[in-house]
Amino acid sequence: MAMVYESRVDGQRAEVESAVLAAYRARTPVSRELHERAAQVMPGGDTRTIAFHQPYPLDVQEGRGCIFIDADGNELYDFVNNYTSLIHGHGHPDVTRAVQAQVGLGTAFPNPNRAQTRLAEIMTERVASVDLVRFCNSGTEAVMNALRAARAFTGRDLIVKMEGGYHGTYDDIEVSVHPALGDERAGDAGAPLALLDTPGVPVNTVENVAVIPYNCIECAERIFRERGEEIAAVIVEPVMGAGGMIMADGAFLETLRALTVENGSLLIFDEVMSFRLMPGGMQEHYRIRPDLTTFAKIIGGGFPVGGFGGRSAVMEQFNPHSATPLWQSGTFNGNLITMTAGVAAMEAYPASEVHRINDLGDRLRTGLGATAREAGVRATTTGFGSFVGLHLGADQVTNYRESAAVSKDVTRLLHLALLNEGVACAPRMAWNTTTAMDEATIDDVLARFRRALAFVRPAMPSA
Ligand SMILES: Cc1ncc(COP(=O)(O)O)c(C=O)c1O
Repeated sequence: MAMVYESRVDGQRAEVESAVLAAYRARTPVSRELHERAAQVMPGGDTRTIAFHQPYPLDVQEGRGCIFIDADGNELYDFVNNYTSLIHGHGHPDVTRAVQAQVGLGTAFPNPNRAQTRLAEIMTERVASVDLVRFCNSGTEAVMNALRAARAFTGRDLIVKMEGGYHGTYDDIEVSVHPALGDERAGDAGAPLALLDTPGVPVNTVENVAVIPYNCIECAERIFRERGEEIAAVIVEPVMGAGGMIMADGAFLETLRALTVENGSLLIFDEVMSFRLMPGGMQEHYRIRPDLTTFAKIIGGGFPVGGFGGRSAVMEQFNPHSATPLWQSGTFNGNLITMTAGVAAMEAYPASEVHRINDLGDRLRTGLGATAREAGVRATTTGFGSFVGLHLGADQVTNYRESAAVSKDVTRLLHLALLNEGVACAPRMAWNTTTAMDEATIDDVLARFRRALAFVRPAMPSA
C-alpha cells in the first residue's frame, strides 16, 4: 500500500516539476541566455556555489527597496537580501548619498580613515563584549582571524564547532557543514565525527577540529571532559543561520560559556548573520559575553566586509606596536567605500528599526506556518525576529540533522514556484526581512506563498 502511495506522489511530483520548470523558463529567457553566456567563461556561470540553483539562477542588476528586477524585467520581492546582508534592501537613500559623496574623492588608501574609526565606535558601543575591533573583507576572513587569535592566545590548536555550522570557506572550518545523512563516516547523532566538507581541504584538518551537535549540553560536556586541555576555542552561532535558522537553547550557550572559562578556552560567537537580530547582536538577547565575536554582512552597508572583535587582552595581540604582533592584513581592509556605507547603514538601523523588522519576521513566520497548516502540509518554522526558516516535511528542527531531514525535492519545487509568483527566498526556504518592508509587504507575500504552495501541493505527502 505504501509503495502505491509513494509512486502516486512521485508521479504527481514529476508533473508538478515539469509545470514549475516550464513556467520558470517561460518567464526568464534572458536570464537563461545570460547564464549560458556566463557558463562559457565561469564554471557554472557564476562565482558563488551557494547562489546556484537549477535550472539556472536569475540574472539581476537592479533593485529598489524590497524589490529586485531580473534581466527579463520581472519584479520580485527580495527575501534573500544577499543572504541577510542588506538590512535596508536596495538603494537606501542615506547609504547611496554617503557612498556617492565619497566615491569621487577616492576609494582606497592604505591609511586609516575616519569612517573606519566611526564604524569601530559603533560596533564597540553596540556590542557589550567588544572592547576592540578590526575589519577585513568577508565573514570568512573574520572567522579565520578570530580562530588565529584564539589559537595564539591559548597556545592550543583544537577548535570545537557545531555539526552543520557554516562559518565561511576557510579550510579549518569547512568541516561537517553538510554531511550526508546516513553517511557512517559522520558518526552517531549524539557523537558526530569531524568530516571534511569539500574535496581539497587537507586531510589532517580534522585533527584540529572537533564537532558536536548544536544544542546538546551533554555533548559539550563530553568533549571538554575528554579534550578540554587541547581546546583553543568553541565557535558557535547564537542562531544557526545557513544550518536552518535554528535558535540556540540559552542553557546550551551558558554551558559553553562556563566550560570555556573552566578550561582556559575562548568562546567565539559567530554573529556574521545574527548581529542584525538585536541592537547588540544575539549575545545581548542571551546575556552572554563571548571572548570574541565575528561580524560581516550588514556592517558593510552592501559592500564586501568582515569584522572581528572582543576583549582587549585577546585583540591587543594584533597591535603592531608590539614586537611580535599577530599578522592581519589585506589590501582592502577598512576600505573607505565599505566603511562609509557601513556607517550610513548602521546609523539608519537603530534599536527601533531592529525591533520593527523583527516584528515583520514574526508576522511572516506565523503566516507561513499557518498557510502550510491550512494546506495540510507537514512543516515547521524556525528563526528569531527577522530570520525565518520554513522546513517542509519536518515537525521539529533544533539541530543540523533534524534540519537536513526535510523534504529537499519539494523544497526545491516550492522555491521555484515562489520565484514564479514574484517572491525570492533562499532555496533552502530561509527568509529575512528588511527596513524596506512593511506589514502590507508581508501580507502580499503570504498571498503569493499560498498560491505557490497550492501549485506544488499535489507533489507533497500530506501532514
Ligand atoms: C555564520 C556565518 N559565518 C561566516 C560566513 C562567511 O561570510 P562571507 O560569506 O562574508 O565570507 C557566513 C556566510 O554566510 C555565515 O553565515
